[in-house]
Amino acid sequence: MENLRRLFQNNRALVEQITRDDPDFFKRHAARQEPHFLFIGCADSRVPIETLTGVLPGEMFVHRNIANQVFPADLNVMSVLQYAVEVLDVEHVVVCGHYQCGGVHAAMGDQSYGLVDHWLAGIRDIVRRHQGELLALDNEGERFERVVQLNVLRQVYNLSRTPVVQNAWRKGRRPMLHGVVYDMHDGLLKEQVMQVDGNEKVRAYLEADRRGVGQ
Ligand code: CO
Repeated sequence: MENLRRLFQNNRALVEQITRDDPDFFKRHAARQEPHFLFIGCADSRVPIETLTGVLPGEMFVHRNIANQVFPADLNVMSVLQYAVEVLDVEHVVVCGHYQCGGVHAAMGDQSYGLVDHWLAGIRDIVRRHQGELLALDNEGERFERVVQLNVLRQVYNLSRTPVVQNAWRKGRRPMLHGVVYDMHDGLLKEQVMQVDGNEKVRAYLEADRRGVGQ
């Protein structure tokens, strides 16, 4: 109970801190949200994106799942995407992977973890497709990091192929797609693929990716 109590104490302290400077902050935000970003990240406890980027409540729409996957058949992520793009009109959709990702690591090994194996099938596929490039790397650590990067690129690609994003682009509208990797060794977000705002950019990035650029 001690740990749980700490959450409530922290929450009260944060509210006091925010309302000291801006007494109507929560009232204002209860009425509406106008976030600029949709963030799709890993469920890992070490990647609390709002804390890492310093955004305030109301600034970021967030979806997190194991290994930041974007499956067209996943009603959850697709509903989040549609609402964020078509109703909230977010400017940016950011896929964020992270080094030391347990999901990616599990997908790279032979061990079975039960239900989550199905969830990670897409990453196994990435490993298969890039086997040549991965084997050419010096060690397991580099391969691990590269698969994290490739996973981000793949999810940005998956996003770009969704009807929601294709429809928006056809109408000349946002969002712009981005892929970043959080490096928990130094706490920094690192750019992988930025400002994808149409099919030409998607093709260009795929081409660059095939040549091994963007590491
Ligand atoms: Co992870």
